[in-house]
Amino acid sequence: MKKLSARRRHPLAAVVVLLFALAVTGGLYAAFAPADTAKADDTAQSLAIEEGKKLYSVGCASCHGTGGQGTSDGPSLVGVGAAAVDFQVATGRMPLQQQGAQAPRKKAIYTQAEIDQLAAYIASLGAGPSVPTKNQYSPDGADIAKGGELFRTNCAQCHNFTGKGGALSNGKYAPSLEGVDPKHIYEAMQTGPQNMPSFPDTTMSEKNKKDIIAYLDTVNSDKTKSPGGLELGGLGPVSEGLFAWIFGLGALIAVAIWVAAHTAKAKKS
Ligand code: HEC
Ligand code: HEC
Repeated sequence: MKKLSARRRHPLAAVVVLLFALAVTGGLYAAFAPADTAKADDTAQSLAIEEGKKLYSVGCASCHGTGGQGTSDGPSLVGVGAAAVDFQVATGRMPLQQQGAQAPRKKAIYTQAEIDQLAAYIASLGAGPSVPTKNQYSPDGADIAKGGELFRTNCAQCHNFTGKGGALSNGKYAPSLEGVDPKHIYEAMQTGPQNMPSFPDTTMSEKNKKDIIAYLDTVNSDKTKSPGGLELGGLGPVSEGLFAWIFGLGALIAVAIWVAAHTAKAKKS
């Protein structure tokens, strides 16, 4: 017993206790520091929601209702998700200026920072698709040929074979996809604006959306624009085939007739 208590009062004991205390403090700090940054993220997020709510009350509530529940002038926005808000507001479709067959694309009137706040507020009303990350929508490394195939089976019936757009019934139209930001192409597929069906990840994987974006990026870039000259509206094999038949064959027949006429004349004389 005596030996033990003697060791406890060893001259190094104070140093050991100090080291131990330091280790505990460091450990506690390490354990709580990340929790602090998470808290900071939370406050930034609730601040964005608050700002978004203010913007919403001024610019959107008259049609979509004070809590986003919808009115006779606009649908409910509960559960449409941040992606729908980013798409609608960044492409200038919202805020709607006048009721018509379809909300047209216009110059955006909100900055991207304000759009993010609006999106944060709408997303807080109900879960929905979030804004895609650059990694999701960038065409880098995607399969362009596969994208072309997917585009022809899923989108061309409305948007035309190379995305030039086309008319639908009752004054509605599928717009041209030339020059549309890859992010907005991704969001259009996620959310299906107005008369366009949506293509959620369950029916069209993230990878396939990327392939389509890469295809559109290729057909709309200058270097691949109609290498053969006149593009005939990019309508596909039928119109282009017809062109070849009428003008190509027509020219051949004309030459044949000319030759025949001249040989006949040559024989006579
Ligand atoms: C003048 C009325 C009006 C105003 C103002 C307005 N909207 Fe809309 N909004 C509409 C209508 C109508 C539709 C439905 C369009 C359609 O389907 O033809 C719509 C659709 C939307 C959609 C698509 C919903 C979905 O199901 O995908 C979003 C998102 C949206 N609005 C957000 C906003 C935001 C954000 C604002 C404010 C910046 C705003 N709107 C201002 C009338 C309005
Ligand atoms: C049933 C017809 C239909 C199909 C199929 C369709 N779309 Fe659309 N798309 C539309 C209509 C209509 C709009 C305009 C909606 C609006 O203005 O809110 C549109 C809008 C878009 C826009 C927004 C363009 C812009 O100017 O901001 C993109 C991008 C788009 N579609 C891509 C696609 C892709 C990619 C596919 C295939 C995966 C597809 N669409 C399939 C009808 C269609």
